[in-house]
Amino acid sequence: MQFVMIPETDNAVEKIFSPKVSRTYELVNHVLTFGFDVLWRRKLTRLAASGGGTEWADLCTGTGETAMYLRRLAPEGVTLHAVDFSRAMMAEAMKKPEGKGIDFIVADVKALPFEDNSLDLITMSFATRNINLDREVLTQTFAEYHRVLKPSGRFVNLETSQPTCGLLRALFHGFVKGLVKPVGAALSGARPAYAYLAHTIPRFYPPEELAAILGDAGFETVTFKRLLFGMAALHESTKG
Ligand SMILES: C[S@@+](CC[C@H](N)C(=O)[O-])C[C@H]1O[C@@H](n2cnc3c(N)ncnc32)[C@H](O)[C@@H]1O
Repeated sequence: MQFVMIPETDNAVEKIFSPKVSRTYELVNHVLTFGFDVLWRRKLTRLAASGGGTEWADLCTGTGETAMYLRRLAPEGVTLHAVDFSRAMMAEAMKKPEGKGIDFIVADVKALPFEDNSLDLITMSFATRNINLDREVLTQTFAEYHRVLKPSGRFVNLETSQPTCGLLRALFHGFVKGLVKPVGAALSGARPAYAYLAHTIPRFYPPEELAAILGDAGFETVTFKRLLFGMAALHESTKG
């Protein structure tokens, strides 16, 4: 595992992804999404792996579930980096058998430890909301991803989204408000983390707006697919 010096901060998000959360993180995800997160991660990694290249990175990798699916699909010769600033989350990732084939890096994704034009592929799942909800900060972060990607390199992103249908959107937000906090807190014992999740999901961008932010960050081509009536979305952005 590599470490990149991260300045001491009072980063609330970093504190949320504590050992209490990391130990139960995957179980809580599977319960709260009725297992759909697994299907969506597989969709993300199949799309991501289909583009080829040899330098791949899963950013905000957390407990590494998406990185593990990616590792299994990676042809020989691919180097897979996995980046996160939470040592507790990455410690869980490193326990997995596929973790042996992954280059783990503790770093903040807002300042990536990669050269310009050096990666073929970036993936990220369920982390955009955690980086920041602010449009400016997200644009700067995605511009950083654009910097490290090679020309024709791709950034494939999976995140919760907003259903188009008003009634479905209201039901989805009601489910998040009513169930995510108590169920997440009961299973993990980490109430603030799931209060935070329940707070950010209804406030996140619809897919068209996230696509516009990716465009503002410099990505020349951005396409997206809605998943499960728009409760999640998969964005594919290409440099150049
Ligand atoms: C909700 S988890 C998602 C983990 C994983 N990608 C998944 O699909 O399960 C969000 C992760 O993003 C990480 N994270 C948030 N902001 C970050 C930043 N600025 N730099 C590095 N990691 C960050 C957190 O530490 C946490 O592990």
